Amino acid sequence: MQAREPGKMLTESAPAKINLALHLRRRRSDGYHEIETVFAFTRFGDTLTVAAGDGLSLVVEGEFAGPAGQGADNLALRAARALADAAGIAPDAALRLEKRIPVAAGLGGGSADAAAALRLLDRFWGLDWPEERLLTIAARLGSDVPACVVSRTCFGAGRGEVLGPWPTVLTGRPVLLVNPGVAVSTGPVFAGWDQFDLGGIVAGAELATLRNDMTAAAVAIAPVVAEVLAVLQQAGGADLVRMSGSGATCLALFPDAAACTRAAAVVARRGWWQTETELL
Ligand code: C5P
Repeated sequence: MQAREPGKMLTESAPAKINLALHLRRRRSDGYHEIETVFAFTRFGDTLTVAAGDGLSLVVEGEFAGPAGQGADNLALRAARALADAAGIAPDAALRLEKRIPVAAGLGGGSADAAAALRLLDRFWGLDWPEERLLTIAARLGSDVPACVVSRTCFGAGRGEVLGPWPTVLTGRPVLLVNPGVAVSTGPVFAGWDQFDLGGIVAGAELATLRNDMTAAAVAIAPVVAEVLAVLQQAGGADLVRMSGSGATCLALFPDAAACTRAAAVVARRGWWQTETELL
């Protein structure tokens, strides 16, 4: 292991995760669902910083620090502990998280933070492990965490942890994220699925022909999601309007930044949380 420089501070971004499509295939006997999804990531996200510390600590700051919580069950801290255990080291790290991603919002905020912690501490502790090794730890932390380790557009199957390439390059595409401020827990939305398998995702399929099969169940829990989708459609100019993950955040993909900004101005009248960003 490399020696650490005293006082060294490192930063890692935790890009927000979006699902450009999310098809549900079947409920498994372990309670999880087999899914097929197109993961994408945005320039917008949280930021995780680490400095030398005595033991492991985490301070959460930023707009969504309140709902994210400072607790020991924070997924970034669990990731840090899991990495230290796997590496057989005593974890010394003072972590600081700038929490910008809304919580329980379908943007994989906790998963993004956990994945950022794995990448950051892999560097900070001088492990320099291959990504495959981080992915194994990530899969134990949550279904979306492996994709967040990669943080680039990819195809996901299994629980979401079986990753493959997605052939269409989407880097730089403007995207508007809109969240109506209703927290939606993932478990109940999966549980509300009608269990009709409407078919899988063919690699490279036109995104507009794909679906988010969790939309109806999310709307049943948070009816405002239907309103967000309608407002984004009516704002015009988008190639794709879709709910992300289990909601309530919805996304609109645009051909250019000007179209994104025009739609954002229309949506802003509703007073919902929103951010204009681009795909990584
Ligand atoms: O894997 P993760 O802890 O993020 O999942 C949170 C919850 O979402 C699970 O407890 C499960 O209820 C549900 N889930 C599911 N099928 C998946 C992923 C998550 O049913 N593929």
